[in-house]
Amino acid sequence: MSIKTAKNQKFMTDRTMTSSSAVLTLLLTFYCSGNTYGEELNNRRFPQDFMFGVATASYQVEGAWNEDGKGVNIWDVATHQVPSPVVNNATGDVACDSYHQYKRDVAILKEIGADFYRFSLSWSRILPSGFDDKVNKAGVKYYKNLIKELRANNITPLVTLFHWDLPQSLQDLGGFQNDIIIDRFVDFARVCFREFGEDVQYWMTFNEPISICHVGYALATLAPQINSPGMGEYLCAHNLMRAHAKAYRMYDEEFRSAQNGLVGIDVNGAWYEPSTNSSEDIEASETLMQFTYGCYAHPIVHGDYPEVMKKNVARRSALQGYTRSRLPEFTPEEIKYMTGTYDYIGVNIYTTELVTPAKGGSISEMGIGPDAQVTSWQPEEWEKSSSSWLKVVPWGARKLLQWLGSNYKGARFIITENGYSDDGRLEDDARLSYYERYLSKIRDAIEFDGVDVFGYTAWSLMDNFEWMRGYSEKFGLYQVDFNSPNRTRTPKKSAKWYANVTRTKCLVETCVE
Ligand code: NOJ
Repeated sequence: MSIKTAKNQKFMTDRTMTSSSAVLTLLLTFYCSGNTYGEELNNRRFPQDFMFGVATASYQVEGAWNEDGKGVNIWDVATHQVPSPVVNNATGDVACDSYHQYKRDVAILKEIGADFYRFSLSWSRILPSGFDDKVNKAGVKYYKNLIKELRANNITPLVTLFHWDLPQSLQDLGGFQNDIIIDRFVDFARVCFREFGEDVQYWMTFNEPISICHVGYALATLAPQINSPGMGEYLCAHNLMRAHAKAYRMYDEEFRSAQNGLVGIDVNGAWYEPSTNSSEDIEASETLMQFTYGCYAHPIVHGDYPEVMKKNVARRSALQGYTRSRLPEFTPEEIKYMTGTYDYIGVNIYTTELVTPAKGGSISEMGIGPDAQVTSWQPEEWEKSSSSWLKVVPWGARKLLQWLGSNYKGARFIITENGYSDDGRLEDDARLSYYERYLSKIRDAIEFDGVDVFGYTAWSLMDNFEWMRGYSEKFGLYQVDFNSPNRTRTPKKSAKWYANVTRTKCLVETCVE
């Protein structure tokens, strides 16, 4: 899910590359071979230790929403509203039924040849009240069984602690807008590290903080559907970052020496391409990158929000009459504490938007777009998927990785999501093509730009509950029959293709070593 600022169709253009990257592409043609759908693919094998995996998330696949002592979370509440905010009144009550079908999930992971499986833990399944007064044994058992089954099949678990399904009890107290979330998240993380940490080496604290905060607490188009642009979203970001840092430090102090795992966070957005080569557009692109990725990556690398973000929000807050900036400040102690709280950074890559400075907005406007003073859009003619926000722009993946690599020098990255939506067909050539073109650009970023990317995750293992879009947009490598009681999984063409990639680590017929 990408974030959107205002749309401005009048800037529509068919340019898809800056001239420097066009020259680079010409040069690369000498190195690349293999071709599908008319595009040259990088023909170098991925490094032997490069990991290929697939991902899902608890609410999107598990079902069993009220079984075995699970508590209620914000998505249970959102999807049961009348009228429902979700397409076709869909819910995750049963979803892919992974709570009961996890062995089948591991079997298809095996068919794909996945090196790892990225899944998330349902907070309210483990701590039904949201607090740590009572640990739900059945919930813990479910994840232990899943991890055991993965291990038995030589598949590494990569576990996200929080992928959007906040216990409703915590939302009733303000959710991420209330700083009590910091210690409650740490309590939850501690239970997870204690229960599963012996078998889990890769941890992620939060999936897509900007979706949690901007889409959940500003645009109100994800649960908890709070409409507080420019205020609630920054409170959310501030508490979320401090929760991340505290969970990271807690892992250091209580678990790292015994468990020796890695803890990171998954950031996302689009690649925000300057709409022209003008210095204004280049600056607008940089500003939006800082308001989106920088808001969450800058604090863990450098201890604080990016300067441009602090400056813009403070200036506009003052003009609006606030005596303090709407963007909360980290104390000097927090800055020190926050710096370096990552072992790796996850990045979810989907799409690209064009950016230019916003003209003529009123000072009363609130939110990331007005604060960044930019506007972004996607040209109509860009290749579509079934999701309105997801246009197919492979070159943006490389530019995004270049930007991350140069802004967070020395960081190791893993692509924690990359995927394409359609109507669920088995002959999913467009998905296959999306994956191979994006992977090719990712391979380029590793090879030519020196970005340290050590793994790639396809979103998703199977069709699942796509949040407010319900089951109307399908991202799976496997098709799920949502009418069959056991939610039969059937491989799509892309699954067979991906199985070949995980085996050969190569995108073309014959790879150069
Ligand atoms: C982002 C989210 O992490 C995931 O839950 C969602 O289904 C995909 N991207 C596709 O929108």
